[in-house]
Amino acid sequence: MSDVYILGIESSCDETAAAVVRSGEELVSNVVYSQIATHQPYGGVVPELASREHLRAIVPVVRKALEDAGHTYETIDALAVTKGPGLAGALLVGLSYAKALAYALNKPLIGVNHLEGHIHAVLLEERQNGNRELQFPVLALVVSGGHTHLYLAERRDSGWIYHNVGHTRDDAAGEAFDKVAKLLELGYPGGPIIDFLAQHGDPHAVKFPFAQMKHRDRNPQNRHEDERRVDFSYSGIKTAVLRYVETHDMRAAIDQRRRVLSELKTPTREQVLEACDPQTLDLAASFQRAVVNDLVSKTLLAAEVYGAATLLVTGGVAANSELRATFAKQAEDSGLPVYFPSRKLSTDNAAMIAAAAYPRFLAGEFAEPELSADAGLRLR
Ligand code: KG4
Ligand code: ZN
Repeated sequence: MSDVYILGIESSCDETAAAVVRSGEELVSNVVYSQIATHQPYGGVVPELASREHLRAIVPVVRKALEDAGHTYETIDALAVTKGPGLAGALLVGLSYAKALAYALNKPLIGVNHLEGHIHAVLLEERQNGNRELQFPVLALVVSGGHTHLYLAERRDSGWIYHNVGHTRDDAAGEAFDKVAKLLELGYPGGPIIDFLAQHGDPHAVKFPFAQMKHRDRNPQNRHEDERRVDFSYSGIKTAVLRYVETHDMRAAIDQRRRVLSELKTPTREQVLEACDPQTLDLAASFQRAVVNDLVSKTLLAAEVYGAATLLVTGGVAANSELRATFAKQAEDSGLPVYFPSRKLSTDNAAMIAAAAYPRFLAGEFAEPELSADAGLRLR
């Protein structure tokens, strides 16, 4: 089989991204236009602004990805685009553009599930590093701003199939990082800044107990597997942080930080650190430690329950230093290999979309002309 160059396009949230990947195993170019500056003043992604920014960025981002790869519209073999899940309006921008481009170029188009994309970010880089022989069953934790999902992933013919064995019942782990950062006036997105600040605080300062999941899954399709499912919940810890702030009179310090930081256009992480008292740093470190320990222990529990032979950890939160270190250590203690994407492929990108599309390209699974965005798309 000769080389296949796929142009990937991703626009499901607040990154407009395009990339060229060769045969699912080599990252040829990777362009990510982040909208962080647009959403920062609001402390979260504003869907209408995200769509508008995608509209502005999509054409130059795709052109740059082709140019960096030394390709043209004519020399690529296929296009791949995120069809869901994500923000409906944001998804539509990438999808409409990819459909129009595929039609005009008369090239095949492959619709990709964003979560499958995150899993293939790891597979792409492992193949690129020469690691082609994964031990099965593979258990993948996809942990981002919108998801905290566990999947058993299997090879089936030339493609992959996924089986969900756990998910968050409320907030995603990344969402908890973002909400806690907003509450403490640390900036947006919360994950990277808490990751940095936590290194300056005491992770044992505040205890955050995690509730065990005892209630039944409301989705009847999942009921028969209730006993074995390993679910997560992160809305409780956010409330616990809020309660801590209130019972420890931290309001004045938070207001003071907001005033100081609002005078700086884009505060650096060192400036945010300077605006933090030890109590805030301890709270950030304890929060991160609690979330990381919960993610790692539940994933290892699921690995045991399902007899996993390999772990993949991916999605924006997989960029977290403490999460990576704790997984590496504890997985080693359990004799399980664990793989992460590089930091740049942990958060949203289009290389993962182009990589996930490759097996579908080989299987001839091309999008129908009526392919539409599905904001609530699930991965099975
Ligand atoms: O995968 P991603 O780019 O977008 C979604 O699909 O959601 O993930 C973004 C999420 C945000 O919640 C962000 O705060 C979090 O990933 N994140 C981190 C780190 N870097 C990004 N969370 C913890 N530590 C980090 N270093
Ligand atoms: Zn994502």
